[in-house]
Amino acid sequence: MPIETLALAMTGASGAAYGLRLLELLLEYGINVQLMISGAGQIVINQETDLALPSSSEKQRDILLRKYPADSEQLQVFGTDQWFAPPASGTGVADAMVVCPCTVGMVSAVACGASNNLMERAADVIIKEQKKLILVVRETPFSAIHLENMLKLARMSVSILPASPGFYYNATRVSDLVDFVVARILDQLNIQHALIPAWGQDRL
Ligand SMILES: Cc1cc2nc3c(=O)[nH]c(=O)nc-3n(C[C@H](O)[C@H](O)[C@H](O)COP(=O)(O)O)c2cc1C
Repeated sequence: MPIETLALAMTGASGAAYGLRLLELLLEYGINVQLMISGAGQIVINQETDLALPSSSEKQRDILLRKYPADSEQLQVFGTDQWFAPPASGTGVADAMVVCPCTVGMVSAVACGASNNLMERAADVIIKEQKKLILVVRETPFSAIHLENMLKLARMSVSILPASPGFYYNATRVSDLVDFVVARILDQLNIQHALIPAWGQDRL
């Protein structure tokens, strides 16, 4: 079934550009996005990009829609304690959820079902409703704690998709590396894109 609505959580791992590029493309492709940004995620976005996002989710939405023009109904932005937002319940569950970028703290919370904020709860709901969950994890090196948490989730069919771009398409710009990772996410969601050619479809 094609993805109509996607929950996108941006946590405070390095790599805000991955999440923002994914958001840009989802809106361009006409997909509805339920966006959640953690407090640390907001700090990292402001540190790593030219955006100056405030804490208010309404103002975040205005700024993001100015940067990525889309049908205004396509983008909902929820605060992390908005417990009446659709992603908090199986009755409002999206078709899939991506956490991008994903901290190892978020991995831990999801692995133990903490549900202490809206994005942790949304991930818990996605798992219990047997929908696709993709964690774009960024940390290095990984400790045994991180690896055990990721293994536990991988065994529940959660996609562990580390933000580790390949360089074999002659990447020359940071945006090429960002698109490499975003292409892998879109592939996992079965969303058609033209970011990079499929393996075997180019010069190889
Ligand atoms: C600039 C910056 C970069 C960070 N990079 C990472 C990272 O790559 N991976 C990670 O797991 N945490 C990273 N952190 C730490 C997390 O933001 C921190 O653990 C935070 O509590 C995570 O909360 P969240 O999962 O609710 O966003 C970074 C923090 C800052 C300020």
